[in-house]
Amino acid sequence: MSAPLLDVRHLHKSFGGARGLIRTARRAQVVTDVSFTIGRGETYGLVGESGSGKSTIGRTILRLLEPDSGEVRFDGEDIVGLSRSDLRRLRRRVQIIFQDPFSSLDPRVRVGEVLAEPIRLHRLRASGDVTARVDELLQTVGLAPHHKDRYPHEFSGGQRQRIAIARALAVEPDLIVCDEAVSALDVSIQAQVLNLLARLRDDLGVSYLFISHDMSVVRHISNRVGVLYAGRIVETGPAEEVFARPRHPYTRMLLAATPSLGRPRRTRADDITGAPPSPYERAPGCAFASRCSFATETCRAETPPLDTFTDGAHEAACWHAEALAAEPSEETTGPVEPEMSPAFRRRMALLREA
Ligand SMILES: Nc1ncnc2c1ncn2[C@@H]1O[C@H](COP(=O)(O)OP(=O)(O)OP(=O)(O)O)[C@@H](O)[C@H]1O
Ligand code: SF4
Ligand SMILES: [Mg+2]
Repeated sequence: MSAPLLDVRHLHKSFGGARGLIRTARRAQVVTDVSFTIGRGETYGLVGESGSGKSTIGRTILRLLEPDSGEVRFDGEDIVGLSRSDLRRLRRRVQIIFQDPFSSLDPRVRVGEVLAEPIRLHRLRASGDVTARVDELLQTVGLAPHHKDRYPHEFSGGQRQRIAIARALAVEPDLIVCDEAVSALDVSIQAQVLNLLARLRDDLGVSYLFISHDMSVVRHISNRVGVLYAGRIVETGPAEEVFARPRHPYTRMLLAATPSLGRPRRTRADDITGAPPSPYERAPGCAFASRCSFATETCRAETPPLDTFTDGAHEAACWHAEALAAEPSEETTGPVEPEMSPAFRRRMALLREA
């Protein structure tokens, strides 16, 4: 098997306080021992509640944040120790797309220049060929060459996200971190942008770290998925496998609260009881124990490691995952054949059409 494009190992990240100097200063432990890989042309979906650490992981991979410890190997090279000039080289190969492209597009710069600038900066085309490349990029994302004369505010939200994608593609990256990239779009536009991203992955071989709190979006685009809870990956595996046979009670709870993915929805997202533990007070044991109806003394005393299931690709960090799998809970398990909400029906129809 070829080496993964991205190989994240034992990543830890905390914020605040003053480590080592002032013992009483409080630090927030936001990412704990996170490991995952992304292959070439693969999409890894990272899903979890607000505050679970998804964006922190995305930003640390780009070295917009410095990790406390761990390795981030990109194409075999550990980027954690890279110098500034080597980082510049990396920044071309790893791009990021945010939820709100408007705030990342300079309103005074025409779209043609937004796309031309990185091409010139990285000397990716001879000066006489830059305009042709800009036209090509616009067409790749479903816009027209004449759009290059417009300013960002003259586009709709979906079109602006297409421009953000074109800008990311301008530097011919290998990996794009999509941080809630479709969350602000309405459902039909969301479907179009998701399909565009999937097509680019298939046509260009680009890989994605796809970050979202939306289980249905992650399921649609991801080859493999990681479920993040309080800064730890608690379940990971092939997307279809994780969504069809969730092993961790947290994944089950998320699915049960997702009208699009659970069977007939028993709980609404608002009905999920409890809250994740504070990142300032990480207690021993399973972080999910205070919300878990299966919690035992062992769960409260010791943190469960990620354990592999039969086929080796599906892992969950739960002391009782095997037992729970053997005795499926009627509420949340079983093949996913959802009783779909009207909004989800519409989304799935759009996704199939496109
Ligand atoms: N610079 C910072 N300083 C202190 N705490 C931070 C900082 N950045 C993030 N955090 C904290 O880290 C935790 C994780 O934040 P993060 O933005 O990674 O979550 P997220 O999963 O992306 O959430 P959302 O779905 O809301 O975007 C939160 O508790 C947040 O308050
Ligand atoms: S380890 Fe225990 S508390 Fe944690 S998810 Fe599993 S059963 Fe629940
Ligand atoms: Mg975030």
